[in-house]
Amino acid sequence: MAEEWLRIRGGKPLQGEIKTQGAKNAALPLMAATLLCDGETHLSHVPALSDVWAASRILNRLGVTCLPDGDGVTIRNDGLTGTAIPDADMRRMRSSIMFLGPILGRMHACELTLPGGCELGPRPIDYHLEAMRRMGAVITEEHGAIICRAERLQGTHIALPFPSVGVTENVIMAAVLAEGETVLTNAAREPEIADLAQYLNQCGAKIFGAGESTIRIEGVSQLHGTVYTVMADRIVAMTWLCAGAVTGGTVCVKDVVPADLDAALNALQTAGCRIASTADRIYLDAGRRLHAVRYLRTMPYPGFPTDAQALMMAVLCRAAGTSVFEETVFDSRYKHVGELLRMGADIRVSGRIAVVNGVAELHGADVEAMDLRGGAALAIAAVAAKGESRLTGLTHLDRGYAGMAECLRVLGGDVVRMGSCA
Ligand code: EPU
Repeated sequence: MAEEWLRIRGGKPLQGEIKTQGAKNAALPLMAATLLCDGETHLSHVPALSDVWAASRILNRLGVTCLPDGDGVTIRNDGLTGTAIPDADMRRMRSSIMFLGPILGRMHACELTLPGGCELGPRPIDYHLEAMRRMGAVITEEHGAIICRAERLQGTHIALPFPSVGVTENVIMAAVLAEGETVLTNAAREPEIADLAQYLNQCGAKIFGAGESTIRIEGVSQLHGTVYTVMADRIVAMTWLCAGAVTGGTVCVKDVVPADLDAALNALQTAGCRIASTADRIYLDAGRRLHAVRYLRTMPYPGFPTDAQALMMAVLCRAAGTSVFEETVFDSRYKHVGELLRMGADIRVSGRIAVVNGVAELHGADVEAMDLRGGAALAIAAVAAKGESRLTGLTHLDRGYAGMAECLRVLGGDVVRMGSCA
């Protein structure tokens, strides 16, 4: 199939209101968690993304039916028939690792291979495996596959070496049906974790403290299905705010929880954006030329999110002065930099540090998305750039944005998805 691309004619301030889609990083673990719950679950506000279809395929292969239904999915779990996460899915989507905890908890065995996903440097699964081991799983490697077996998962104390989002979610999912109590310390505090716990508690689980550093889970014998609405995607909301900021526009993002974006909004304010919010809306007015943010360091929540690093870099490319980024969460998350340089940005990278000297204007160029958030940063930079850009690598964008072109058009951007790159 010929590659698709976005034709972006930039240079105009974005203006308008936009609704926020459901959060990918909440929807995926929620879908995995339905493996633990007997009967039917209806999830609404599920974004239409390739990663969601991949998760749906995994559920179907495990014998659980997952069908699209309105703005969500209906999942019917009458018992799992498989224990393997297919290799193709593990390669396609890193969050396939989310299925480890629930499959192991439910079936006492799980086979998987190493996950794929965004090219963000080495993304090992050692913490996931170690946590399952601590709960009683025996893990072996056979012919390139990882085999986990556990007669019965046992509650225990697990102290994470780093507050990993995925490991925190996997431990919660493995522990809800385990014997006894699990206490997880140095847990990740991202809002998506509280969303997962809220869903599972609604299904009969006993999870306390999700969203804090210490989470306590009392194992129960059975969980049932429920009806649940996926939380708003805070990073997608940040994308539209950054699109407003980099173009010097005025944007209102609706259906969002402003508190989930505190650190990110602070960064935009430091750059000179005027921001106001209500219970579920954020207004941004970029007004005049923005100025540099002296030092921006990505950190686990509630720090400045690594998922917003590329977006904020696109904004600061055009701000007056020098901004310094430090990426502390992933080893290799500056793949967008080379592409921003093609648009006239002035950025130097050394290891985990990126130094951005703001330029007055960016210009259109042919650029390629190398990962999801880096791709989104290129899209918004192109909307701000003078002239025409061609953005390829859309498979990355489709993993996390339900209709990037349509959304930018809602805000007045001239963005069209084109059929062929020939
Ligand atoms: N890590 C290990 N070993 C492990 C697990 C993680 O060394 O076993 C390291 C990672 O390599 C990384 C750090 O720990 O350097 C943090 O990784 P974490 O486990 O927190 O990330 P994740 O669960 O794989 C989720 C999101 C990412 C987001 C990160 C950090 C999902 C599906 N993915 O990934 O989202 O960047 O948390 O907030 O929830 C995105 O949406 O574009 C995206 C990449």
